[in-house]
Amino acid sequence: MTKKITIAIDGFSSTGKSTIAKQLAKKLGYIYVDTGAMYRAVTLYAMQQNYISDTHFNVDDLITDLNNISLSFSFNESLGFAEMYLNNTNIEKTIRTIEVSRLVSKVAAISEVRRKLVSEQQEMGKNKGIVMDGRDIGTVVFPDAELKLFMTASADKRATRRYKELLDRGDKVNFEEILHNVQERDRIDSTREDSPLLEAEDAIEFDNSDMGLKEQFDRIMSLVNTRLGL
Ligand code: DC
Repeated sequence: MTKKITIAIDGFSSTGKSTIAKQLAKKLGYIYVDTGAMYRAVTLYAMQQNYISDTHFNVDDLITDLNNISLSFSFNESLGFAEMYLNNTNIEKTIRTIEVSRLVSKVAAISEVRRKLVSEQQEMGKNKGIVMDGRDIGTVVFPDAELKLFMTASADKRATRRYKELLDRGDKVNFEEILHNVQERDRIDSTREDSPLLEAEDAIEFDNSDMGLKEQFDRIMSLVNTRLGL
């Protein structure tokens, strides 16, 4: 059997982690897991139950209810990636809204939430052959991953990408609001006590502010091939 590895991709929000992760998974025939979608799904659940809004957060209620949250991914052939399901409902689009983006860092800072999601992520990757992106994949979820990448880009570039993505989807968006959201999430994600966004010591850093997708993909594939002994 051909050797399979674990690829961990971490970095700030909107650094193109998921684009590169999806391409790698497709090329290698690996599973792709977007762990940010899982934190977003728990946030959506908390919003639906009115545990969280811009003005309040009943952390204890969410923690008590965590066992009722069932998360799953289902591969969509026409999209070419797995969509996120919350208690058997497809929520792939809803979790990308600015309302969820505004609250997700607060939910992701809760240790009980992280424990639940990290254990589900470790289960998904137990047979390797996986590309997982997030904030703590190389440091907490798979500290032994054979390849760890850490993606960065300027806040302005990242907000511009996000802005275009949302515009393309037909959302009404304001650039300043998106830039503020990107910077605020960086701040909360990097300073939280539990599993802050950190570059693993053995991660390879990619600043893709000015690097095209093709160049990035080719450079990463050559790292993958080295790890695979090719
Ligand atoms: O990758 P994303 O922007 O969809 O992630 C949404 C939020 O979830 C982000 O602000 C930080 C959090 N997150 C996390 O804390 N740990 C992960 N492994 C993935 C995401």
